[in-house]
Amino acid sequence: MIQLIDSYNRHINYLRISITDRCNLRCIYCMPKEGISLIGHDDILSYEELLRIACIAVKKGITKIRITGGEPLARKGVVQFVSALSGIQGIQDLSMTTNGILLSPAAQPLRSAGLKRLNISLDSLNPDKYTMITRGGDINQIIAGMKSAQEAGFSPIKINVVVIRGINDDEITSFAKLSMEKNLQVRFIEYMPVGMENGWEKERFVSADEIRQSIKTIGPLLELPSDNGSGPAQMYTIEGAQGRLGFISALSDHFCATCNRLRLTPDGKLRTCLFSDAEVDLKTKVRQGCSDDALADIINEAILSKPQKHHATEQVFKKCIRGMSAIGG
Ligand code: 5AD
Ligand code: SF4
Repeated sequence: MIQLIDSYNRHINYLRISITDRCNLRCIYCMPKEGISLIGHDDILSYEELLRIACIAVKKGITKIRITGGEPLARKGVVQFVSALSGIQGIQDLSMTTNGILLSPAAQPLRSAGLKRLNISLDSLNPDKYTMITRGGDINQIIAGMKSAQEAGFSPIKINVVVIRGINDDEITSFAKLSMEKNLQVRFIEYMPVGMENGWEKERFVSADEIRQSIKTIGPLLELPSDNGSGPAQMYTIEGAQGRLGFISALSDHFCATCNRLRLTPDGKLRTCLFSDAEVDLKTKVRQGCSDDALADIINEAILSKPQKHHATEQVFKKCIRGMSAIGG
């Protein structure tokens, strides 16, 4: 089997493709309220270009692909794109991260197109607070989206919660209780200093450890072995719960040593680390008529330049210039 191995002997098999930097929400931890300066339409890779890169990457050893954004469902034609991706021989896992706003009508078509797993961002269970955090989102659309996703057969659905002190840290136990009643996986994500205007300050940061301490007040927290699908999340469950809890300690206990990811930005740049602004420009090569073999070599070189680890912590951090909406989280 062909494998992509980086300079630190990590096996790179996971590609996250951000198909758009546009979003129909303006979450306070992701974007300024007026939005961000958007990548021009001509600079966004077409679906044909994305597919070509995905095919080459899969031939080189990528087996898992996640579609992200911005908001991926905000780009026209995404269902057909999923269908084309799922037809690539060698892809074992195809997933998407969405904010859920446009999910309700899209869930069944996405499932039929071959999407295997869904992560939905939901940072508050309180309708007004949800609207505040997303600057305008309607939680009822997310609830409808989750219901449709369940009906379409996505299971278990993962809910992503970015915990921010003073904003939604009072809801940690409510989210944990949700995992008791429903077969959902609630994933608590540490607030990361990615992007120039995402409001990150260390006073707002809540560590995974602190989140677990709050949850222990409602019941015993049992650690589970992490499986293939859990990625960097440390998995737990509350005794007797139907669902599970994941903790993504990107800052307090970084998981760089086992990082298996590569990211493709909407404008065709390969990024080997979320926290590093170093990028390799694939788009220009694709548009210059580069051969598949030459593109495969560029992917290999990018992987060999993947940093050993990032240096952001709770105390010392460097904001990266590109925000999550342009990298894909
Ligand atoms: N810190 C942590 N997670 C973030 N996301 C976006 N910005 C941040 C941040 N600063 C998450 C979203 C979504 C995923 C795409 O990335 O909540 O779940
Ligand atoms: Fe949009 Fe996701 Fe950023 Fe929120 S976090 S503004 S939903 S891209």
